[in-house]
Amino acid sequence: MINLPNGEVKLGGRYQIVSYLGGGGFGQTYLAQDNHLPGQPRCVVKHLKPKLTDDESLAMAHRLFETEAQVLYRLSDFHQIPRLLAHFEENQEFYLVQEFIDGDNLSQELAPGNRFTEVQTIALLQEILAVLVYLHQHHVIHRDLKPSNLIRRRRDHRIVLIDFGAVKQLSTQIQTHGHSTRTIAIGSPGYMPSEQMAGKPRFCSDLYAVGMIGIQALTGLHPKSLPEDARTSEIIWRDRAEVSPRLGDILDKMVRYDFRERYQTALEVLADLNPLAPDRLMSLPPVDADLQTNSPETRIQMFTGFGVGSPSGSEVGIDYKTLQDLLFAKSWQAADQETQRLMLKAFERETGQLTADEIRQFPCRDLYLINYLWLHHSDGLFGFSVQQDIWKSVGGTTDAIYPALERFSKHRGKWRINSPWQRFGGRVGWRSREQWLPYGQLCFSLEAPKGHLPHWQNGEQVAALISRMDICKPYVPHIDITRKP
Ligand SMILES: Nc1ncnc2c1ncn2[C@@H]1O[C@H](COP(=O)(O)OP(=O)(O)O)[C@@H](O)[C@H]1O
Ligand SMILES: [Mg+2]
Repeated sequence: MINLPNGEVKLGGRYQIVSYLGGGGFGQTYLAQDNHLPGQPRCVVKHLKPKLTDDESLAMAHRLFETEAQVLYRLSDFHQIPRLLAHFEENQEFYLVQEFIDGDNLSQELAPGNRFTEVQTIALLQEILAVLVYLHQHHVIHRDLKPSNLIRRRRDHRIVLIDFGAVKQLSTQIQTHGHSTRTIAIGSPGYMPSEQMAGKPRFCSDLYAVGMIGIQALTGLHPKSLPEDARTSEIIWRDRAEVSPRLGDILDKMVRYDFRERYQTALEVLADLNPLAPDRLMSLPPVDADLQTNSPETRIQMFTGFGVGSPSGSEVGIDYKTLQDLLFAKSWQAADQETQRLMLKAFERETGQLTADEIRQFPCRDLYLINYLWLHHSDGLFGFSVQQDIWKSVGGTTDAIYPALERFSKHRGKWRINSPWQRFGGRVGWRSREQWLPYGQLCFSLEAPKGHLPHWQNGEQVAALISRMDICKPYVPHIDITRKP
């Protein structure tokens, strides 16, 4: 029996509990009303109750809670994720207040025995993958994708993702404090791949869960009830569904036992999936890919549309056909030069290099289109989002003043410059033995290090690029722009 807080009690002085929605070991979720706003709108209050005793753990809980709340605020600018409205602490317990999503979670739609058609399954996968593109761009692994954490919103029938692993992780980290920082596996049986069970989730662990949801939709069976091949540990399911070989192969590649054999990014899955659903794609409304120009209304349409203005999806009328052809032919150097040319063309220029200021204003959709083409044709080796990850991993920032932050460090007894830009150059293979390579000596093949292409001349450009990538909404071309006609 759950003890509902007394109806008179207003959490945080303003949120009054209406009913109980659910809960587990780490906390409870309530439907509440916000008494400080006119009309007392509904909201969802998640109550996290770490069992803490000492000051040190409390301080740590506080820090983690703050950090995680910041992550959720950052994420909630996306219409398929509930907005985080407030976070507060009361009596050393933690509360997150979220937008209430009116709708039903997918456990009903995906109840045992209910089968989706192939078209419905593809549409479902596309919607979930769109959220994942966004999450992963923000370096967040959800860790608990499953039907009960997906709500189909009544208003527009879109899928909304709830219950972020980030917050659960917060709770487990607090619970385990004092017993080293052991990672507890967060996730749900049937949807959780082996590396996640071992406490090492990756982005493609989320893709595994989505694949399992797709298989559940096609078979009408809960993933836990599907057998595994005793020798390979792969899931056996295709004999239990009516599925085209192409979709079957995509799902198989999402749920491979070995994470190295899976798709690595949601974009890659979408690239294979989108061509299977041409009708739906063409009928969708146009979308504004630029975050900054979005009113809440247009944001609602965002990313649901994937509509395209010009045939290629360019915002500024750029024709990507030559770039597509060059990438398709794996003419990497020519494709790199064509990329520079097209990006300059967006500013009606023909010579010189893009300035950091220009990059900071580059049309969002075009940026993601170019990224998508590179990623797709290089199997995830090249592209801006690959560079984005590397830039962040070497401590690169997105500030305009970044070059001022160059640092010196001692290496083999000699002082040398050690800035994010230098480290980045090393990682993507533009530097070798402490020297920047001339353009002609770059490696224009798939043997190149990750993120080697497209090439940039300086750290200001890369900082600006990554800043733009962060600001823009990921745009996934929904037409098959990657195949030769
Ligand atoms: N923002 C929300 N809008 C509407 N319902 C929600 C929302 N967040 C959670 N719920 C409901 O509460 C249930 C439990 O919340 P959830 O965040 O999944 O916590 P947990 O699974 O950790 O208990 C969900 O399955 C869903 O039905
Ligand atoms: Mg849940």
